[in-house]
Amino acid sequence: MQNFEYYTPTKIVFGKQTEQQVGELIKEQGCQKVLIHYGGNSAKASGLLDRVKASLDNAGIAYTELGGVVANPLLSLVYQGIELCKKEQVDFILAVGGGSVIDSSKAIAYGVAEPDKDVWELYDRKRQATACLPVATILTLAAAGSEMSESSVITKEEGDIKRGYSNNLSRPVFSILNPELTMTLPKYQTASGNVDILMHTMERYFTPHDTMEITDGIAESLLKTVMKNAQILAKDPQNYEARAEIMWSGSLSHNGLTNCGGGNGDWATHMLEHELSGMFGVTHGAGLAAVWGHWARYVYQALLPRFERFALRVMGVAPAENAEQTALKGIEAMENFFRSIDMPTNLSELGVNATAEQITEMAKKCAIASKGCIGAAKPLYEQDMAAIYTA
Ligand code: NZQ
Ligand code: ZN
Repeated sequence: MQNFEYYTPTKIVFGKQTEQQVGELIKEQGCQKVLIHYGGNSAKASGLLDRVKASLDNAGIAYTELGGVVANPLLSLVYQGIELCKKEQVDFILAVGGGSVIDSSKAIAYGVAEPDKDVWELYDRKRQATACLPVATILTLAAAGSEMSESSVITKEEGDIKRGYSNNLSRPVFSILNPELTMTLPKYQTASGNVDILMHTMERYFTPHDTMEITDGIAESLLKTVMKNAQILAKDPQNYEARAEIMWSGSLSHNGLTNCGGGNGDWATHMLEHELSGMFGVTHGAGLAAVWGHWARYVYQALLPRFERFALRVMGVAPAENAEQTALKGIEAMENFFRSIDMPTNLSELGVNATAEQITEMAKKCAIASKGCIGAAKPLYEQDMAAIYTA
């Protein structure tokens, strides 16, 4: 096993109607003025935004607001948010939405805390953050895990460059998780979110290092729980218990718990997907589903015992003639699961008909973003990235 540090400072307030506590929770933080940051229309249409404002009013907390975060959040709105916060002397950011809203909030929080520096330099790997305003979240979509994570992913419109930045400074101080809030999600967003949650565990599970039994057990249980409840939600989206299982799994999948003892994980599928959503604006989880099987077939021989274990313990396939056959059956079973919740398993099902030039460009950008090489299961270089996109 690997040595590890595990740091999860985020307070979780979980359950029905918990958003009503937001005013009191912010009051405990002792701030002057809050930016309420949200997306397009969902938080307004559901009445959530009004409930949040009422709770802040009741607690006597001053606030300003900025909506308009789009899926795959944009740098231009981050800059706008930073300017607004400076003008309004905001010292606390409340994200009301999914991963995109939370990530946009984290970027604004970095930008306000270091007002003389360009926040994009963080995402462009030019420097490290030394400060960040406190961020809290009211989650409306179980997927990205940003509500407990140290990461945020922002797209710079110029050049369609999507980049992530990770720093413990941005871990939310608290996150309110009310599974009821996810019941208004369209089916496609629910399914994409479920794939993202699975992938956050799988990226860590397919590691070349020796692992810990406890961490493998947690990861395998997470994966099975998410698949079971994703199938329940595909038929019964209003099922509170299934929404709750998925929401908590989403946070546990990306707060570092399933890294413990096994190293940093693989992350090649995520890196490949970020270029797809950067260039084509696809939904992150659906993009992951389209890439994963092709990545898995490309690398499984380098990590055969792990893929065999995945097939037997997670996908529940019967042992085949040899480890290789079993591993391949496990990959196929996961792709069948994706199909069962109407997720794509290749680029054309994702709605992306990339030309050879676009594939070359995505592979090039992915190589630049990763300083040449992605993945831990098997190191992948630019030509490997292009081969996986082509497959
Ligand atoms: O804008 P609104 O109207 O709110 O609509 C949103 C958006 O169109 C809608 N939505 C959210 N909650 C809803 C709802 N619609 C109805 N009812 C609700 N309760 O859903 C759409 C997608 O929202 P978005 O926030 O983009 O989805 P998600 O949470 O999947 O976040 C995706 C982003 O997170 C990044 C992805 O790359 C992508 O940019 N990631 C962030 C990570 C992190 N910070 O740790 C890790 C992930 O691997 C991921 O890369
Ligand atoms: Zn993800």
